[in-house]
Amino acid sequence: MAKPVLLTGASGALGRMLAAGLAAQGRALVLTDIAPFPDPLPALARFERADLGDGEAVLRLARGCGHILHFGGASVERPFEEVLGPNLRGLFHIYEAARREGVRVTFASSNHAIGFHERPEDGDEKLDMRCAFRPDGHHGLSKAYGELMGRLYWDKHGVENVNLRIGSCVPEPVDARMLSTWLSHPDLLRLAERCVDAERVGQAVVWGGSANPASWWGEDHRARLGWAPEDSAEVFRARLEGKRSGNRWPSATRAARSARTGTRAPGRRRATPSRGSATAPAAATEGWVGIRATPSRGSATAPCSPSRARATSRATPSRGSATAPPGCGKCKS
Ligand SMILES: NC(=O)c1ccc[n+]([C@@H]2O[C@H](COP(=O)([O-])OP(=O)(O)OC[C@H]3O[C@@H](n4cnc5c(N)ncnc54)[C@H](O)[C@@H]3O)[C@@H](O)[C@H]2O)c1
Repeated sequence: MAKPVLLTGASGALGRMLAAGLAAQGRALVLTDIAPFPDPLPALARFERADLGDGEAVLRLARGCGHILHFGGASVERPFEEVLGPNLRGLFHIYEAARREGVRVTFASSNHAIGFHERPEDGDEKLDMRCAFRPDGHHGLSKAYGELMGRLYWDKHGVENVNLRIGSCVPEPVDARMLSTWLSHPDLLRLAERCVDAERVGQAVVWGGSANPASWWGEDHRARLGWAPEDSAEVFRARLEGKRSGNRWPSATRAARSARTGTRAPGRRRATPSRGSATAPAAATEGWVGIRATPSRGSATAPCSPSRARATSRATPSRGSATAPPGCGKCKS
């Protein structure tokens, strides 16, 4: 019998769906969350209530497991102190457990790790996995940290990991933005299955979106997993068009934004905006990838130039295998 899958965040919206779906496939599960599990416990599953901040508990839960699906933690923007425990310290506990058990981690990252990229429009290049992190809050920043933690544990310890930059994973899309960002529950379940079962993935980044023609996401590592989404938000278009969410300037177009910010003339552009502009994005919630992105012009927290020095670390990878991480030379994240 295959080793059980450890699922964190099991009592959350996605955790409950994944627990039910994976259990229905006859998989053994170790479920955990800081909150009680609200559903009847599936066959071949056990549940233990634990705080991700408790490293001993995380190690104990991971013992004997064959994979960690990490969906627990602060899932929306929260004050830094509330993000710190579960999303930073907790993530470290997850990766330490994975290193000790020699198992792969699937990390529920988020579009909010790159939420301050402008939305690609018709004719623009889509965002690909190499785009710079542009977190739109403490939650998004913690997801960027999580992806980089995966990078470190792969490079240094050979811990495989898949980072799912989930868009909007809800039963049905509810606004126009989700024509681009929606990930259906069945597509996420199939993606999680492939993360568990794929032969070899190295360190991977996958956009968590369904097969939406209006998607903003481009190239990623899904081929390594053998995953392709099957659903599409397009069938909901008629009732979603014009339904905006959190939009303070409903008429915002790129031209209007550009006029306000002076950052970019309308027209074709590269998907990754030029770094190093001193101009902060305008204070709009539409126009940026992350819906909760509410930059304040001129504030000290405006995105700065992330020109990154090349790593000159003396860290010696201890992978134990001569095999280079597949494709890692192309991935800047
Ligand atoms: N649902 C989406 O559309 C979406 C989009 C992008 C990313 N994600 C990511 O997917 C993951 C799951 O999302 P969700 O919608 O199910 O969120 P959710 O809030 O419903 O579930 C998160 C779970 O984590 C648990 N948790 C919080 N702090 C904890 C702690 N200290 N110790 C143990 N457990 C703790 C909560 O009790 C909750 O059950 C999150 O990491 C989220 O950031 C979700």
